[in-house]
Amino acid sequence: MAIIYNETTGVFNLQTEHTTYQMKAGEFGFLLHLYYGERLEDGSDLSYLIQRADRGFSGNPYEARYDRTFSLDYFPQEYSCFGNGDYRADSIQTVNGDGSNVIDLRYCSHRIHPGKYTLPGLPAMFWGEDDGDSLEITLKDPVTGIQVILYYGVLEKGDIITRACKVINGSKDRTEVRKAMSVCLDINHNQLDFVHFYGRHCMERQMERTPLHHGKQSVGSVRGTSSHHHNPFIILCDRHATEERGDCYGMMLLYSGCFLAEVEVDQIHQTRAVMGIHPDQFSFQLEPGEKLVLPEAVMSYTRKGFSNLSKNYHDAIRNHLLRGEWAHKRRPILINNWEATYFDFDGEKLLQIARDAKDVGIEMLVMDDGWFGERDSDDSGLGDWQVNEAKLGCTLKELVDGVNRLGLKFGIWFEPEMICENSRLYQAHPDWMMRVPGRKGNIARAQFVLDFTRRDVRAYIEEAMSKVLDSANIEYIKWDMNRSMCNIFSAALPPERQGEICHRYVLGLYDLLERLTTKYPYILFEGCSGGGGRFDGGMLYYTPQIWCSDDTDAIERLKIQYGTSFGYPIGAVGSHVSACPNHQTGRLTPLETRGTVAMAGSFGYELDLTKMTEEEKNIIRSQIEEYKKYDELIHEGDYYRLCGPYGNDRVTAWQFVDKEKKNGLFCAVITRLQANPAPLIVKLKGLQKDMRYEVNGKIYSGSALMYGGMLLPVPKEEYESFRYEIKGIEQEGRTVLSPSESCSRIR
Ligand code: DGJ
Repeated sequence: MAIIYNETTGVFNLQTEHTTYQMKAGEFGFLLHLYYGERLEDGSDLSYLIQRADRGFSGNPYEARYDRTFSLDYFPQEYSCFGNGDYRADSIQTVNGDGSNVIDLRYCSHRIHPGKYTLPGLPAMFWGEDDGDSLEITLKDPVTGIQVILYYGVLEKGDIITRACKVINGSKDRTEVRKAMSVCLDINHNQLDFVHFYGRHCMERQMERTPLHHGKQSVGSVRGTSSHHHNPFIILCDRHATEERGDCYGMMLLYSGCFLAEVEVDQIHQTRAVMGIHPDQFSFQLEPGEKLVLPEAVMSYTRKGFSNLSKNYHDAIRNHLLRGEWAHKRRPILINNWEATYFDFDGEKLLQIARDAKDVGIEMLVMDDGWFGERDSDDSGLGDWQVNEAKLGCTLKELVDGVNRLGLKFGIWFEPEMICENSRLYQAHPDWMMRVPGRKGNIARAQFVLDFTRRDVRAYIEEAMSKVLDSANIEYIKWDMNRSMCNIFSAALPPERQGEICHRYVLGLYDLLERLTTKYPYILFEGCSGGGGRFDGGMLYYTPQIWCSDDTDAIERLKIQYGTSFGYPIGAVGSHVSACPNHQTGRLTPLETRGTVAMAGSFGYELDLTKMTEEEKNIIRSQIEEYKKYDELIHEGDYYRLCGPYGNDRVTAWQFVDKEKKNGLFCAVITRLQANPAPLIVKLKGLQKDMRYEVNGKIYSGSALMYGGMLLPVPKEEYESFRYEIKGIEQEGRTVLSPSESCSRIR
């Protein structure tokens, strides 16, 4: 049983294989958070750690009367409320029927059930009854009757605890929810660093680590998408945490819209982290009896550093979030025509790319932007999802059949959420565009956002896309989204509901994705938002891979993919070999190195093969063969960051190892050359100590590779890379451990 409730003490223990999460329905019904950390075996009530004291200016709930030591202003809370005497980061704010904004939630009841709760209309992890249990705790404000149900999912083997909540207007008046976070976590000290992943277009998810300070630190997005600029994944770790050791708490919001991750250190050096939908541009009206479900947050704790935390997230996402046929199926190696042609293509040019692609072993051609409406530049056409046969010189079916005849699959690009003023759709339905009446709005890439809160708008787009998808054998969709939202307004909603748009937009997006992925289960969907502007767990629920960045420069990608790897599995990262000099940076890198970097992801090409020499094509041929060989390892194995890309490291290296710890792949890219260079030694990870491995023609023991390390050859050219297979050697009389045995043995 993953969830144990002690009726006498009111303590809930949520147990995973290595962690315990503890809370208590205590005096006067306050739900106190007691502990999240290494597994406690005996279910001890840790409320003794709350030292009660009379703290000036920290008031007391009325029921505590003159007990000045009972204060919500410093007690750890499971779901902090605004206006009830807890002045720290709040989880919920409401405007009640009488205009007041106090909400004071108390424990009412709970329910434990096997398996995982569901969140209709929202992405959520899923698992079976044998994998873990769920807990639902109902809290209620005794005066208004507003209820909040806190959901907890406990994935035992994966050391994962999910949280979500539902606000129910149990009052007799309309209530406005101004803020409702998905998760609140109190930690009783502040000796922690805040790790988050910031960035911009073409430079997403740069890792930043700063010590917590008193007051609030936050990251978030008010752009309508999770954004290039911050990611809904944060880590709180102890000050000395490394890849191998140290407390790490991860929090990931499975949501693709505006979000806030807020961390506060309080007056007695305690830390609170809350995460959920960003309260700016958010207010939700609930009529009596109406409900609001908030997105799921996924938490994990480990005391074994970042590597183990990443492993927990990678495994959980792969096995309990990715859905559909493609979740674990080998994905086709693709060529995308974007960087080869941009808008300048026709059917014949694409067929030529397909012929060349076939010749080197590529398995799918993806036709990117520019095949529909009047779209020869990014100034027009979005919304007109009708094939431009005049431009292609053929029908879509003729083109796809031609590509299929060559033995390649065919994929296509859409940007379903957008509209250009210069489009037939805008002529017909100007009110479908989000724009505040009387304001011109803000143009980005000559496009505006469609009002996806509206069912009729989504139905039109679904029909238009279905017509295209039904007309030919299309087996892949790249789902793009190329602007941040502002001037938010929906003609379909009354003034008091305009604050609901951003969230309703995301729900509308999920609704359309759900409909299309259900209708076309055989299609592989790849998410995209100008590269990785919507790289989040919400999208991964519908699209098992996401184009990681519009920056295809292999050296810049080292940092982008490094940051991405903390929370997201490598197979989710769309990654392509592109031309040289690189189109975004002008940098020259060896083709082999571009292959090495792109292989840390769902692999493909994005260049003009007709401009490549036979020698280069031969390199591509062998890269494709090699990727196919390692595909399963890359998608399903364990991933380790070994060194770089920040600091003084001259090399950035990473490694994949299968779950049996037997076979792996080592990859390294030299990022700085030196004269008379010092030796480059990289320590491997995740191997079996006493197993022998063949690497680059030599035999080593696992312990030699992990503790001594591997000596890299002296680099001969700028940005040289090394890829070495790690091949476990069966030894007579030695049994290779099963994954679970090997885990416990190595620990
Ligand atoms: C942005 C994407 O990230 C690119 O790969 C490409 O599809 C363009 N959009 C097309 O407009």
